[in-house]
Amino acid sequence: MFLGLDLGTSGLRALLVDGDGRPVASASESFSAHHPHPGWSEQDPADWTRALDAAMAQLGAEHAQELGAIRGIGVSGHMHGATLLDAQDRVIRPCILWNDTRSHREAAALDATPGVRETSGNIVFPGFTAPKLLWVEEEEPDHFAAAAKVLLPAAYMNWHLTGEYFSDMSDASGTAWLDTGARDWSAALLEAGHMRRDQMPGLVEGSDAGGTLRPELAQRWGLPEGVVVVGGGGDNAASACGVGALKEGEGFVSLGTSGVLLAARDGFAPLPESAVHTFCHAVPGRWHQMGVILSATDSLNWLGRATGERPADLSAMLPDRIAGPGRVRFLPYLSGERTPHNDADIRGAFLGLGQETGQEDLTRAVMEGVAYALMDSYAAIRATGTELTSVLAIGGGSASRYWLELIATVTGLSLDLPEQGDFGAALGAARLAICGATGADPDSVMTRPAVRETIAPRADLTDLYAAGYDKYRATYQAIRAIQ
Ligand code: XUL
Repeated sequence: MFLGLDLGTSGLRALLVDGDGRPVASASESFSAHHPHPGWSEQDPADWTRALDAAMAQLGAEHAQELGAIRGIGVSGHMHGATLLDAQDRVIRPCILWNDTRSHREAAALDATPGVRETSGNIVFPGFTAPKLLWVEEEEPDHFAAAAKVLLPAAYMNWHLTGEYFSDMSDASGTAWLDTGARDWSAALLEAGHMRRDQMPGLVEGSDAGGTLRPELAQRWGLPEGVVVVGGGGDNAASACGVGALKEGEGFVSLGTSGVLLAARDGFAPLPESAVHTFCHAVPGRWHQMGVILSATDSLNWLGRATGERPADLSAMLPDRIAGPGRVRFLPYLSGERTPHNDADIRGAFLGLGQETGQEDLTRAVMEGVAYALMDSYAAIRATGTELTSVLAIGGGSASRYWLELIATVTGLSLDLPEQGDFGAALGAARLAICGATGADPDSVMTRPAVRETIAPRADLTDLYAAGYDKYRATYQAIRAIQ
């Protein structure tokens, strides 16, 4: 048995799989992010470990025997977060999350520093880890001085599980401290970010062992001695492992809080100016590229809050099939945007509202805006020289067939829906654990899942949505000029 832990922005999932990677049981616990000021987004790591204990207790209630047979654990985490530990391993302040934009000035300054983009292969986006530490240095100097270790959320969980400090390369790629081509911390980038190597965790490949489970946790949860904890991965690389996107051209579209279009790469081919992210994969010798939009299902969540409706009820107002773009247009830049604009200040918009506009029109416009934003990411990814040949659809938003047909038609990509439930990142983490504990080859473990249905672009509507996309692009330029 193996355990995959998916530490997400809205909760933690623990997935138990057998030696062939088949899901046996899963348990989930929710927590939330706190927004003490506009643009801030924080979580208390104690909420993560409490959720983990609760999830393990849930699993233990029905699957005590299987827990006793666990050999390996892998953790997937939401990326870029800064968890600061003091010399006694105490958490100094709440973790600053990936969708926190307070350090956009520090990010811009670091991004403009000669050599930074070249070594990291990426723009220094405001959500990345390095600018957060520059902000802490400036605004909370006592916290900065006390920081003996800075850990990404998954690395914090690795430390909690084992007592060792280690991160995998895929997650470390999102810090702006990593030489992404060399798969090692960069002395120059650490210096630019006012950090030291001894404040960094050790680096291991996601599929390699990093430590063993603390005896007290093994006892508490009923696990055997000597359980291996692997490097794990950032949530997107882990999801790629979960859906078997390892080789050139294999990818996925993820409709979660953020939206991601990911393509696996055999080599390191960065193109920072496209605002595409070029990160190490969670398995050795591979990389991946992705366009990231900051508000995917979060745009629908926002509409839910604004209208007093549940997002699922809004989505249920739409039919299964698309019928051409609506009159209302929506820009999903509720928290600024990464790909392709790298624009922390831009905000969203509705255009084309009329007396007749109702909730259904607004919902449809929100889904169209997200689909067009993902088309922007696809165009940026293609500019790096990648062609996506096989794309799976994952994440909570993929429950909407309407949304998927829309994205397929706008991008021209056929989208495969996996047969099994939505286990992306948790399954990827479990698969990494299988590799690390048994020495199995990642290519043989991380296979493509069985496909339930393929959602093809609607050729009869392609031209109409292409015209809609042109208007969407023009709208960003116009809004930018006046905001
Ligand atoms: C990736 C990113 C998001 C988070 C969400 O760069 O910021 O996808 O990982 O969990």
